[in-house]
Amino acid sequence: MKTIRFGLIGCGLMGREFASAAARWCHLPDMDVRPEIVAVCNRSLQRTKWYTDHFDSIVQVTDDYRQLLANPDVEAVYIAVPHHLHQEFYCAAVGAGKHLMGEKPFGIDQPASDAIVRWIGEHPEVLVRCSSEFPFFPALQRIGGMIEAGAFGRIVEVEAGFLHSSDLDPNKPINWKRMVEFNGRYGCMGDLGMHVCHVPFRAGWIPRTVRAVLSNIVKERPDGKGGVAPCETWDNATLLCDATDPGSGDRFPLTLKTQRIAPGEKNTYYVKILGTDASASFSTKNPKRLKLLEYAGGQQTWGQVDMGQETAFAAITGGIFEFGFSDAILQMWAAFLYELEHGKPPSTFAGCVTPEETSLSHRLFTAALDSHENASVVSVAE
Ligand SMILES: NC(=O)c1ccc[n+]([C@@H]2O[C@H](COP(=O)([O-])OP(=O)(O)OC[C@H]3O[C@@H](n4cnc5c(N)ncnc54)[C@H](O)[C@@H]3O)[C@@H](O)[C@H]2O)c1
Repeated sequence: MKTIRFGLIGCGLMGREFASAAARWCHLPDMDVRPEIVAVCNRSLQRTKWYTDHFDSIVQVTDDYRQLLANPDVEAVYIAVPHHLHQEFYCAAVGAGKHLMGEKPFGIDQPASDAIVRWIGEHPEVLVRCSSEFPFFPALQRIGGMIEAGAFGRIVEVEAGFLHSSDLDPNKPINWKRMVEFNGRYGCMGDLGMHVCHVPFRAGWIPRTVRAVLSNIVKERPDGKGGVAPCETWDNATLLCDATDPGSGDRFPLTLKTQRIAPGEKNTYYVKILGTDASASFSTKNPKRLKLLEYAGGQQTWGQVDMGQETAFAAITGGIFEFGFSDAILQMWAAFLYELEHGKPPSTFAGCVTPEETSLSHRLFTAALDSHENASVVSVAE
């Protein structure tokens, strides 16, 4: 088994998910490559304690990402930091010759995204991918296979969304994800949007134009210090796009929703594809349920399939057992390491988001800001 030595920059929520996935790599019996975390970096060193308590492999702990990148033993990095740091940190990592798994939105705004993607283009020797785990749910792997096989026929309509609800509580204190300075002007689109774009973009369903309606519903929040702070980021966004099916050249409506205030929705990612030959619907609300309608004339009936462990990368879990969020994270990391070792993903929908796909998402979100501001339809062209 080959080992890739990883450095982790940003020891918060997502950093822990990666470390936990690395700790249960034995879950994936067919992998011939594994990650080993040898270095961690966080602004406040207090956050690194959980890592050093659990991982004997860590030999470097620092609060300066440059020191971690200067460590010749580090071959690859996962960088999970607030959005205003993406450009500086990602470019430095790539420049230091480290393979990079970055986090979305891959730059706080379009100029940052452009700079990152340009810099990556000058360093083809490193693999750079963006984290996005939902397509690794078994139902979405199945849907991906159907897309590749052309099973949907002519696409009638596609909707994808990612819905949260905890911001419905006006007493929830503000954090960096609700501050334009750290999260960016995209607001909820920057946080949730890449997840929603992943499957449509991978399918080649590229938005030509967008009409967006954005909402800032809770305009101030407790600042956590006894006062109140303005909350200026967009809570909710609905993007109606005019997309083209690459197979037929036909145009169809593609609706992308990202909402931080969707009452009752804890963490619901969903996608619904309607086609002339088949339709499919999946939501993490019922994570093992795949709804399908196959049509060859006659009665039109939605059926439902209970998915088990039909994963892109074989797992030790029994085939009938349920799949969850942390399984999707593990699968995503398997995809990154597999591509690093083998040069390409095992199938189209078993690959992580590419820098080009992040770049397209930035064009879309930037156009969406313009569309909302001017109440107009905006081109997403390059
Ligand atoms: N893939 C997903 O499902 C998913 C989910 C949540 C967040 N994210 C993304 O992950 C990234 C991080 O989000 P998070 O939820 O883990 O945030 P977080 O606030 O939990 O963690 C960020 C960490 O970065 C550290 N940090 C800040 N400035 C730093 C610096 N200069 N040097 C080193 N460390 C620094 C913070 O101290 C913190 O520990 C964001 O890009 C976010 O959009 C992805």
